[in-house]
Amino acid sequence: MTAQANPYLPMSARIGKITIENDEKDLKTFRLVLGSEAEAMAFAPECGQFAMLSLAGVGEIPIGIASSPLDKGYVEFTVKRYPTGKVTTALHDLAEGDTVGLRGPFGNGFPMKALRGKDIVIVGGGFAFTTLRATIRYVLDPKIRGDYGKLFVLYGARSPGELLYKEELKAWQDRGDLTTCVTVDKGDDAWKGRVGLVPLVLKELAPAATNAVGIVCGPPIMLKFTIPPLLELGFEPGDILTSLERKMTCGIGKCGRCNVGPYYVCKDGPVFSYATLKDIPENGF
Ligand SMILES: Cc1cc2nc3c(=O)[nH]c(=O)nc-3n(C[C@H](O)[C@H](O)[C@H](O)COP(=O)(O)OP(=O)(O)OC[C@H]3O[C@@H](n4cnc5c(N)ncnc54)[C@H](O)[C@@H]3O)c2cc1C
Ligand code: FES
Repeated sequence: MTAQANPYLPMSARIGKITIENDEKDLKTFRLVLGSEAEAMAFAPECGQFAMLSLAGVGEIPIGIASSPLDKGYVEFTVKRYPTGKVTTALHDLAEGDTVGLRGPFGNGFPMKALRGKDIVIVGGGFAFTTLRATIRYVLDPKIRGDYGKLFVLYGARSPGELLYKEELKAWQDRGDLTTCVTVDKGDDAWKGRVGLVPLVLKELAPAATNAVGIVCGPPIMLKFTIPPLLELGFEPGDILTSLERKMTCGIGKCGRCNVGPYYVCKDGPVFSYATLKDIPENGF
């Protein structure tokens, strides 16, 4: 849902908390608190949506919403800093108490209402795990958990130091009401967990496709090699969902900046099914 009467006008949000997520310190989670209760109530995201974060005089960028729609009073974003990235670098230089501009929430998100009653198979790689984290937090909420079947989570990163949300991953692994598998491409001396690429681990664990949906987010190379095993396991193309990233300016389907085939990623997406994407050559699937 778009919360704002004027979707071009950013609301002011205060940074309540910053969490450094990785050893490289180039991934930070920003917890934002909106200025007024009315704005906080109106900003009602759904799993898989994004928002536009802005810094006056620097620029504005789309970032996926990493907190659950049921997390009240704040909204979280995990941002990777690119060394030559204008806005991500400026954001990383901010401190708790500073303010940023926030427009949104935008995009379609994952169709969580339509997925009620289904098993959810989540496969994520790298820092694209952010909106998957939002979705897992949502499904695990005691008020919601009974609406869905089994929850299977497979998450991979290049190295242990690159894993996001480490404490939360540990808490999920300790719970009995979901299966959580964490894997890294390359371990280190301290790593006691699994080592292996996400597509290979997926093949090995082989989550059941019956009455299930696969939600897959990660770098393009991971997607390219993860979708075939899902199809082999019996997931229908329409039951494999992913989220696309494109350069965006308006975020609301007006500027034509973010098209993929006949679709605008900001408005028709960012969530698309593989059935929709597989015939659009520029996706590389
Ligand atoms: C729907 C959507 C959701 C997104 N969610 C997230 C998120 O949750 N967290 C997050 O960190 N990012 C996310 N992104 C990507 C984010 O929008 C870009 O990283 C951001 O726009 C970069 O802005 P900048 O001003 O720092 O970089 P710019 O100044 O625009 O770019 C400078 C240089 O940085 C590098 N760069 C910038 N973006 C990328 C990229 N995406 N991949 C590789 N290199 C890049 C390139 O070398 C580029 O030339 C999302 C994008 C979309 C469309
Ligand atoms: S960003 Fe303007 S149409 Fe999508």
